[in-house]
Amino acid sequence: MDEFVKTHFEGAVAQVTIDRQEALNALNDQVLAGLEGAFLTLGRHPEVRAVILTGSGKAFVAGADIKAMAGMTPVEAQAFSQRGQRIFNLLEDFKTPVIAAVNGFALGGGLELAMACDIRIASETAKAGLPEVGLGVVPGFGGTQRLARIIGRSSAKYLLFTGEIITAARALELRLFNEVHPADTMLGRCWDIARAIATRAPLAVSYCKKAVNVGTDGPLSHGLAFEAELFSQTFASADQKEGMQAFFEKRPAQFTGR
Ligand code: CAA
Repeated sequence: MDEFVKTHFEGAVAQVTIDRQEALNALNDQVLAGLEGAFLTLGRHPEVRAVILTGSGKAFVAGADIKAMAGMTPVEAQAFSQRGQRIFNLLEDFKTPVIAAVNGFALGGGLELAMACDIRIASETAKAGLPEVGLGVVPGFGGTQRLARIIGRSSAKYLLFTGEIITAARALELRLFNEVHPADTMLGRCWDIARAIATRAPLAVSYCKKAVNVGTDGPLSHGLAFEAELFSQTFASADQKEGMQAFFEKRPAQFTGR
């Protein structure tokens, strides 16, 4: 088990927890390595159909580790940024949905991590922001790109320029968070969503993720062509036969992932 990143399984759902509470789960080399290792390992578990990512204590993740970054040269900073981006891409491209359970501070690299997840469910006590300009830097783990794609360019620029830390309620209004719940029920809600996803046809779910990710970054015509290709591929699966047969027989489908 990794020192800072713990994984536990229950049925088809896995929960990954970042646990470096003394630094509010800040992302240093070791935490980044733990996160990468956790997702590479999960990728080898075909039974996993949804993943929840959360933090221990009062933070989701309070950012990249400022102590680790303070003395970096420009060349080292570029490598650090590229490494973080590569690991976050691993989550964005992960075969199953990844739900960020935002239990507290999601700042800088922490919000960037949550934004690499597919869905963000937050507790009422969570706070979000990209405060990098207050440290004399720009977000380096995908924040300038993903924030604008999620909440639109204008609201993204406002948060980037001011570095303002916003409440969960404001993040919900901006559609940065999908849902906000009381702190004591938030994680349970994430498990309910993950379990619901896990009952759906795995290939179809992973193709939906791929179609949105690939399709929304290019012209609509390319996205539509890609969607048609994936739609066609699902008709070569046993789950398509089972899903439609179950509908005719008025019973729940039994998906196998084939
Ligand atoms: N890096 C390193 N250590 C951090 C940290 C971070 N991002 N965030 C918090 N910590 C540490 C604090 O230094 C403190 O450690 P010590 O006890 O050893 O001093 C410990 O965690 C607890 O933090 P605080 O005492 O500050 O807790 P608080 O409740 O008073 O404040 C907070 C909480 C508002 C989140 C505050 O800790 C804070 O502002 N943290 C920094 C947030 C930030 O600027 N994040 C962006 C980082 S830059 C980045 O992420 C770049 C990128 O895109 C790649």
